[in-house]
Amino acid sequence: MAKTLVIGAFGQIGSELVPALRSKYGREGVIASDIREPHPPGEMEPYEICDATDKEGMERLIRRHDVDTVYHLASLLSASGEKNPDNAWRLNVKSLKIVLDLAVKHKLKRVFWPSSIAAFGPTTPRVGTPQHTVLKPTTMYGVTKVTGELLCQYYHLKYGLDVRSVRYPGLISHKALPGGGTTDYAVGIFYDALQKGSYSCYLRPDTRLPMMYMDDAIRGTIELMDAPAERLSVRTSYNLTAISFSAAELAAEVKKHVPSFKISYKPDERQKIADSWPQSIDDSQARKDWGWKHTYGVPEMTAVMIKELKKKLGMR
Ligand code: SER
Repeated sequence: MAKTLVIGAFGQIGSELVPALRSKYGREGVIASDIREPHPPGEMEPYEICDATDKEGMERLIRRHDVDTVYHLASLLSASGEKNPDNAWRLNVKSLKIVLDLAVKHKLKRVFWPSSIAAFGPTTPRVGTPQHTVLKPTTMYGVTKVTGELLCQYYHLKYGLDVRSVRYPGLISHKALPGGGTTDYAVGIFYDALQKGSYSCYLRPDTRLPMMYMDDAIRGTIELMDAPAERLSVRTSYNLTAISFSAAELAAEVKKHVPSFKISYKPDERQKIADSWPQSIDDSQARKDWGWKHTYGVPEMTAVMIKELKKKLGMR
């Protein structure tokens, strides 16, 4: 039986996408892969250690498991990418090119690759950002996302590869922590509110960004991959959004659950990145083409984050 491969299985998205795909296709039908040993060992089986920038290793993996679908999630996020632009380019672009080339060579059925709101830049309209608009990002992460989007479209047009993509907003989850992004505060605030009663936010209170609860993101990703190819009119990457809020608005929502919660603001280098991104996104094309619909609003997302994190942190 042909298998699905998830590259970047331990990341923020991968660690929730793997179980979701396994409940749909069965454990053996989904190969998880990442660059490090799983902890505890065996937990992620079937699991393969592989560096996404190692073409031979990736090819062996695709052959050995008769892979026909790849979710390629390995990536360096925006803030980490600014600390090491060379690494961001190498991991984000080189690995995608490898996956696309192998997908053509081995005639894979379908590939998923995530883009981001980071594909936009300071000259893009920031409110209700349209599907087709200016893509002139000022971060290396954004540059790799625009490059990747164009590569995906090129492989679709040139080789007929069925590669699909969405521009994720900031993703909020109580399972895996995000690492090295600009939207990470929207997860960190919950941990600190519950554990310390206060949070020091690295963005200004009025910083508004598009966000999404992880369950919506996972469901949307699988729905896009299940959609009939003829319904898809975008082969760069679909705008996708759910909610938009400012840091102060999220803090007010958290306060409804933790009344003594205090927030302070100390903007750092991530403020500049956030200021170059949209405040809200127009994702009507995704809604029209393949029926995208989010379910979690800000109050629902906040309530479930508080409830699940309390359980995870062993609090009442
Ligand atoms: N969440 C990502 C980041 O902040 C955006 O794609 O870098």
